[in-house]
Amino acid sequence: MALRQQKSLDLSTYTIPRHVAIIMDGNGRWARKRGLPRVAGHRAGAENLRRIINACVEFGVDILTIYAFSTENWGRPEAEIRGLMRIFARVLDQELDDLHQQGVCLHHLGDLTGIAPNLQEKVRRALQLTKDNKKLILNVAFNYGGRAEILHAVRQMLADNISPDDLTEALFSYYLFTRDLPDPDIVIRTSGELRISNFLIWQAAYSEYYPTPALWPDFGREELFEAIVAFNQRERRFGLVPEESQ
Ligand code: FPP
Repeated sequence: MALRQQKSLDLSTYTIPRHVAIIMDGNGRWARKRGLPRVAGHRAGAENLRRIINACVEFGVDILTIYAFSTENWGRPEAEIRGLMRIFARVLDQELDDLHQQGVCLHHLGDLTGIAPNLQEKVRRALQLTKDNKKLILNVAFNYGGRAEILHAVRQMLADNISPDDLTEALFSYYLFTRDLPDPDIVIRTSGELRISNFLIWQAAYSEYYPTPALWPDFGREELFEAIVAFNQRERRFGLVPEESQ
């Protein structure tokens, strides 16, 4: 197979966002434009995820969080859900060893119960195998919803008898699925939609939001590069005035 020449993209003078979060939207539209079934769009989306993981490693991103399946996605047609579950299982079967070799540490955000036991088992195996890897943390939000995550955290805190006086933002964050990871610096949403759709609603309070018209299967390495360049043009103020935020 001929090797495709990769364009050299120089980010040496840019600040690399430590944590990139992506709402991978537009698979269905990508497929429809080609007269293909929706699940073909999800397959193309899964292939693209591989490209974006490689690009994150290349650019020096530490943490990538992807929205793979939301708690609301259960409302989709059964055939599409089955197709998606098959893709997740196949990616784990076919890509896990490579991801492990590459130094990717997989984390799961969301509720694993409610997913077919064989898929749960594959996910658990993947988490265990990759837990000490250091190159890139890949958080996969799967059967995930931001509100459900907050309720889960509150339930856990009540079960741990946390006193109201001890409750701080840092402690609350610790009870979320992202635990002690830093908040996302940038949240990318493909396909031109301008919603957060219940994704990291606590963690993304001060993230830079980057909507792009590219459909997810078309959002490649160069588009990620452009997102990082755009991130560098933002002034992050965290609610302060310019001088205080320096
Ligand atoms: C949204 O596009 C996408 C999803 C609900 C699924 C995302 C899944 C993948 C990219 C597959 C690979 C993921 C892993 C973890 C292996 P949409 O279907 O809502 O698109 P539309 O808005 O154009 O219909």
